[in-house]
Amino acid sequence: MAPEAAPAGNAWIAGPGGPLRGTLEVPGDKSVSHRAVMLAAIADGTSRITGFLEGADTRATAAILQRLGVRIEAPAPGERIVHGVGVDGLQPPDGTLDCGNAGTAMRLLAGLLAGQRFDSVLVGDASLSRRPMARVVEPLSAMGAHIASEGGHAPLRIAGGRALHGIDYATPVASAQVKSAILLAGLSAAGTTTVREPHPTRDYTERMLRDFGYAVDIAGGGDAVSLRGGGRLRATDVAVPADFSSAAFFLVAASVVPGSALVLRRVGVHPRRTGLLRALEAMGADIQVHPCGDAGGEPVADLVVRHAPLRGIVLPPEWVPDMIDEFPAFCVAAACARGETVVRGAAELRVKESDRIAAMAAGLRRLGIAVDEAPDGVVVHGGRVHAPAGATVDSHGDHRIAMAFAVAAQCAGGPVRIADVANVATSFPGFAGLAGAAGMRLAPA
Ligand code: S3P
Repeated sequence: MAPEAAPAGNAWIAGPGGPLRGTLEVPGDKSVSHRAVMLAAIADGTSRITGFLEGADTRATAAILQRLGVRIEAPAPGERIVHGVGVDGLQPPDGTLDCGNAGTAMRLLAGLLAGQRFDSVLVGDASLSRRPMARVVEPLSAMGAHIASEGGHAPLRIAGGRALHGIDYATPVASAQVKSAILLAGLSAAGTTTVREPHPTRDYTERMLRDFGYAVDIAGGGDAVSLRGGGRLRATDVAVPADFSSAAFFLVAASVVPGSALVLRRVGVHPRRTGLLRALEAMGADIQVHPCGDAGGEPVADLVVRHAPLRGIVLPPEWVPDMIDEFPAFCVAAACARGETVVRGAAELRVKESDRIAAMAAGLRRLGIAVDEAPDGVVVHGGRVHAPAGATVDSHGDHRIAMAFAVAAQCAGGPVRIADVANVATSFPGFAGLAGAAGMRLAPA
């Protein structure tokens, strides 16, 4: 499928800037927001969600649930009142269901819709339509679902009225989206559904199911997750923590821009999300974690980050799943570090919103950083990031690539044009404003 044309004015001029100073609160967690609104929709009773991410991805999920007959009120930004319809109460939609750019929406909703009595069709934008969907179609089909895809890609045409049965499934890739799709289908399947992972991934679905009163068995520290179909969910309120993946850009920016000292308030620090903290600490970063309770059942902390000289590391491949969304930011830290940083075991980066290995390698090379690409990783030869006159990097329509280069540009010695940045609204609306308030230089081009 051809890439979508970038609208005019869809670019930033970034950097050089900083130091970063002050106290910031980044928006709500994307993964938690998607799941909160989905589970509230199929619960019995009314749930209130606070800290809901007002991003295009999570709004797409909420809009789809409304099309499925769920009444959702938005009394204030970041707040949703969801009038649950029960596990058997979703209604047939009046047309295709548009997930936009959101992989989480498409994969989790495929699981939720696989066992409904009505047909549905999930579609997405050009980027989402290139991403692999066989990883959910296969296990859901093994449960008895009937899902037609376009050679393993969206649109997904889901036939209704199929009686699902539980399976015991070992996922070939460590993917919370695949695990979650199977568990959500398992709610309406006969018998027990079990998912085993090669490496534990974020466990929001299973923990949030428990918060909604659904029994979930988590064995071996998360190696196997099981539930029995046919139960019901009880409405509950969810307080969504700030998204670690959004905080990541500021953790790296403050680490690499001299003179920076920044506080990031009330960030979710679930261990399955914070591999970047471990990686930055191993590189010599100065980050303090001050725990401040819980939000949505997740540990929350204030993060205090100060500039520190970084050195390259060989990243342990087993850390990769815990920082899968943070690689664009991590590559910028590696570019500003002394010495080489080696990443392997990260082939999943090639099937995110863009091919993040190729996109980061291409952009960093434009900024004078040598990068060797491997099928499943990179070697970044840290050095001086510098912007030749008229330097332009392309985000490939990927929100996290755009924000990562906005950070890189802060130490580039000259302005960098970042093309195709509109997608930042999928996960972090208001990024440019917050970045500017913290001391980064970032303006619409
Ligand atoms: C997510 C899981 C991860 C992550 C994505 C959100 C989730 O994807 O990259 O941004 O909310 O479950 P995979 O499951 O494909 O690893």
